[in-house]
Amino acid sequence: MAVGIKEKYNRALVTGGAGFIGSHIVEQLLEEGLDVISADNYAGGKKENLAPLHERFGGRLEELEVDVTDYGALRACYEGVDIVFHEAASKKTVCLKDPRRDMLVNGTGTFNVLELARDFGVKKIVHASSGSVYGEPRYFPQDEEHPLNPTSYYGVSKLAGEKYARAFCDLYGMDCTILRYFHVYGPRQENSDVGGVVSIFGRRVFNGQPPVIFGDGTQQRSFTYVKDLARINLLAAMAGGTRGEAYNCASGINFTIGELAEKVKEHFGRGNLANQYADWTVGDIRAFDVSNEKLRKLGFEFRWSFDEGLSSTLNWLAEYLKGK
Ligand SMILES: NC(=O)c1ccc[n+]([C@@H]2O[C@H](COP(=O)([O-])OP(=O)(O)OC[C@H]3O[C@@H](n4cnc5c(N)ncnc54)[C@H](O)[C@@H]3O)[C@@H](O)[C@H]2O)c1
Repeated sequence: MAVGIKEKYNRALVTGGAGFIGSHIVEQLLEEGLDVISADNYAGGKKENLAPLHERFGGRLEELEVDVTDYGALRACYEGVDIVFHEAASKKTVCLKDPRRDMLVNGTGTFNVLELARDFGVKKIVHASSGSVYGEPRYFPQDEEHPLNPTSYYGVSKLAGEKYARAFCDLYGMDCTILRYFHVYGPRQENSDVGGVVSIFGRRVFNGQPPVIFGDGTQQRSFTYVKDLARINLLAAMAGGTRGEAYNCASGINFTIGELAEKVKEHFGRGNLANQYADWTVGDIRAFDVSNEKLRKLGFEFRWSFDEGLSSTLNWLAEYLKGK
């Protein structure tokens, strides 16, 4: 896929490049032959996510410690850049504790990324948004026309980022594409208690501890494997007709949290561990049926089944935890 991306672009800036999803985008861009600069403040990202890529790709990867809210520092990353993948964000857990920080990073930070892209004549911006911009589902399947009524600080700030991206398209004729991610999982995802559910369950079960389920485990998630998501980013960079458009990036693979717990236990041969149950998380959305038709019409095909993605993730995690 992404045949010819090197013909169209030379140097990509990935904000949040040392993070979970950002590092997979960095990897695929390097594999396609682009030079890449990662700008990350390491709030959640890790040097170890990019370290093997420096070894594999040498000087084609540049890594800078930069906060996207710092306009001057961010400006220094744009020399020669012709495409930006904007992944840096304050995640949900930060938002709950510090909503002002959330607004600053996801709102002002995104504004800085866009304004500099305009000033440096960047050809394309692929902006990471979130399914959280929809809020409570009003109908199923949820397509991109579904009303945008976020119910969390995180959703509000991510929607602000989207709206800025669209405004820059309208005001300055820029080419921004918005990708709304849902329940991404895979190697390198944070596995501490503020991480992703697949990695948290994986870490606990690997260590012989039961998965902790908030609620009764019947809540659904639309799991999307990170390598497919990185390929979507590259497709969005290449496909025509995506300017100003938003795309749901959900694989359509739905499992409940209870089913996930059973699969993780089965993977590690720990079927006898009894789940622990705790109170529902406030605002947890329980049912997901997200349409990915618009993305598939662009020609995208999801390659990873849930069993393949899960086993690749849990195998990676086991090796990672053994090395700790
Ligand atoms: N993981 C998911 O399921 C999911 C779902 C919806 C949307 N998203 C979006 O995907 C993007 C990537 O998220 P992720 O899951 O890889 O999380 P992550 O925390 O691993 O990645 C975010 C990266 O941004 C960096 N960062 C945070 N604040 C920054 C700042 N002020 N300046 C520079 N860098 C900063 C972090 O250090 C981290 O490396 C985010 O925009 C997020 O909102 C993720």
